[in-house]
Formats: sequence, C-alpha cells, structure tokens
Amino acid sequence: MAEHEKNGSYISGREARRITKFNRRVTRKLEKARADAARDERLYTTQMKDPNNIVEFDNVCTYFFSDVGVVKAVDGVNFSVPRHSTVGIVGESGCGKSVTSLSLMQLLQRPSGQTVGGEIRFNKGDGSAYNIVNTPNSIMEKIRGNRISMIFQEPMTALNPVFRIGQQINEVIELHNPEMSEADVKARTLEMLELVGIANKEGVYEMYPHELSGGMRQRICIAIALACSPSLIIADEPTTALDVTIQAQILDLLQNLKDRLQSSIMLITHDLGVVAGMADYVVVMYAGRVVEKGTADEIFHHPAHPYTIGLMRSKPVVGQKVDKLYNIPGSVPNPVAMPDYCYFRDRCEMQCERCKGKYPPEIRISPTHIVSCWNYMDEGTVLGFPKSVDVNTL
Ligand SMILES: Nc1ncnc2c1ncn2[C@@H]1O[C@H](COP(=O)(O)OP(=O)(O)OP(=O)(O)O)[C@@H](O)[C@H]1O
Ligand SMILES: [Mg+2]
Repeated sequence: MAEHEKNGSYISGREARRITKFNRRVTRKLEKARADAARDERLYTTQMKDPNNIVEFDNVCTYFFSDVGVVKAVDGVNFSVPRHSTVGIVGESGCGKSVTSLSLMQLLQRPSGQTVGGEIRFNKGDGSAYNIVNTPNSIMEKIRGNRISMIFQEPMTALNPVFRIGQQINEVIELHNPEMSEADVKARTLEMLELVGIANKEGVYEMYPHELSGGMRQRICIAIALACSPSLIIADEPTTALDVTIQAQILDLLQNLKDRLQSSIMLITHDLGVVAGMADYVVVMYAGRVVEKGTADEIFHHPAHPYTIGLMRSKPVVGQKVDKLYNIPGSVPNPVAMPDYCYFRDRCEMQCERCKGKYPPEIRISPTHIVSCWNYMDEGTVLGFPKSVDVNTL
C-alpha cells in the first residue's frame, strides 16, 4: 500500500473527479451570484453596526474549493477594527490571518477562493458602509490603495525590480489622483520619502529596489501604502524579514504615521513581542476561527483561552532561564475535515465535561474580552455560536 494511502490522505480517481465536478459547479454559481450582487447597489451597501469602527468582520466564511476538498480557511470570523487604533491578529501559521485580510481586499485567488458567508463592512466615513463581499471590482479598485492599503512581508517581492523607486510611488499617487500635475506628483513622492525617514530622497527617487537595503525597501513599501492617506493599513508580517533593530524602527515609523494620518492598523504577525508593543486590541485566531479577543492588556496579562495561555507560555522571556521552552502538544486538525467539537480540544490541557459537546460559543467575560471556550460558560454572557456554511447547500 502506498504511503499516502496508509495515512488516509489518499483520494481515488473517482473521488477526485467528483470533487472537481462539485468545485466547478459551486464556484460557477458563486461567481454568478457575486456578479449579480455587484450590479445592485442595495446588496453591497449597508450600515456599520458601530460607526466608530472602520471595519467589521461579521461571521465571515472564506473557503477554498481545492482538489482535495473544501478548505475552510476562515470560518465564522467576528471582530472589528475601531477608528484610530491598532488591532493585532495573532495565531500560528495557517490559521487564516492572511486569508482574512485578503478577503477584506478582495484579493483572494478566484475562482477557487470564495467568501461564501457573512459580511465585511467597510465604513465609507459617515457610518454607511460597503459590504466588501459583494462590492463590484470598479469600486474595489478605488478602495484598494486609496482607502485600505497593504504592506507585505517581503519588501523585495512587493516592489517591481525594473522600475525606479520614484516611478513606483508616483504611479500610486497618479492612479488615485488623476487631476494632479506631474510636478505635484513628484513633490508628493519626495514628501512621502522624507516622511518615512529616507535621508537622501532625491537620490533614492532615481534608484532601483536592488540598490537599497531591506529596511529601506520596507520604508518604500510603507511610503507607497501611505501615499494616499488610507483610513486602514493592513500590515501582514511587516517586519519578519528584517533584523531586530530595523524592526523596531519600522514599527515606530508605522505607529507615528498612523497617528499622523489618523488611520487604523490591522497588524498581522506571529511575533507576540511586536503585538505587545503596538496593538491596542488583540485577536487570537486558531484553525480559521477567532478563539479570543480583547484589549492588549487583557490578552497579555489575563489570557483566558487555553490556546492563548499556551502561546504566552511558549514565548521566551528576557531574564528568565528555562531548560526548554514550552510547546503546545499536538497539531492543528486537518483543514479539509474539521471536527464538530472544539478545534483545540485534542491539544487542550483544560478539558472539561462540556468539551465533549459541539464547538463552543463566544462568551463575553468583560466588556471588551470575549473567549470561545466551554470553561467560561458560568463566568460570562453567551453571545452566540460561529456560523459555518454547509457547502452542500451551495
Ligand atoms: N490559494 C489557496 N488554496 C488553497 N488553500 C489555501 C490557499 N491560500 C491559503 N490556503 C489555506 O488557508 C489556510 C489559511 O492560510 P493563511 O495564509 O491565511 O494562513 P496564515 O495564518 O496567514 O499563516 P502564516 O502565518 O504562515 O502566514 C491554510 O490552511 C492554507 O493552506
Ligand atoms: Mg500569512
């Protein structure tokens, strides 16, 4: 028997053909429904639940219709980003952090990646909102880069190697401000270069990305992201490719610019140190779901979910000597076949009788602190269960 047959991941030819046929039928139907919704303004405009939020994720489900089955990468995610604040999103690799932000930018790899349920509300500024899930591409093009912008992990791949730095920043400004003259665009680019701390701005304007260091390239990416004063900046692991001193500079820079432009930041990272230093609120994700959210103080000093407690224990502390760092036992369940009970149960050291039941609801244990764990049933208010989408009904 072949190795893959023994470990249960084997798919027969017949099964593979069934999956392909199913994916084709479902994704075609979803694409059509999306195109129809994009033509009807009522279907993509809505109201914010709280006008002080810039973005609200409401039970968002983003699935990938892959060759081995449906991957529920983001499944019933609920959280919001208040104005002028930094929200850190943490969780181990593969838990759905990037897919959450790509769903907000409508940059999923389609047609296999689809947001099949929930609403992503983006504040237009006056409390009315776009439901990004149904928003047509023509409007998304105006939102991306202008209202929401993104900073990626690898600044070398985010920049185009064959164009000069100046040209690349100019392009973004021109695109979103077609009325600006060439001289004004250049002046704005130089102003942005100065803002992100590039000393030799006239020189760097004429350079190519390979002539700059990693830290400088990331500064350029930040300049591009902030060129149009967006109301939300998504930073996906912005400092992972940089060394520690540069990392601190870049984070400082981001924080300063955020305050200056009065934007909000969605900071995605698996570095808890970065989140602790910057975030006002923290969202902890596990296997495509939010397991805990609260203020940075609540998450760092009073973590409630066993997974968050494990994450905190596994982070090294300066000045504290340990023989071996703690690691959470076991691994994340198979994304194609998630269990119908708590996804963390099989790795959990705090299991109780209730954990034998279905996936736990969200429980509010303080006005800002919400946790999805059966252990807190008697300590807070039950808010509701995450809503998954049954793909067979699509
Ligand atoms: N194009 C795709 N096709 C199929 N599955 C995908 C695709 N993109 C992401 N996934 C799956 O979605 C899940 C979430 O991925 P995501 O990239 O959001 O993780 P992440 O939390 O950002 O991890 P990391 O910290 O490594 O960046 C993973 O299980 C991944 O395999
Ligand atoms: Mg990622």
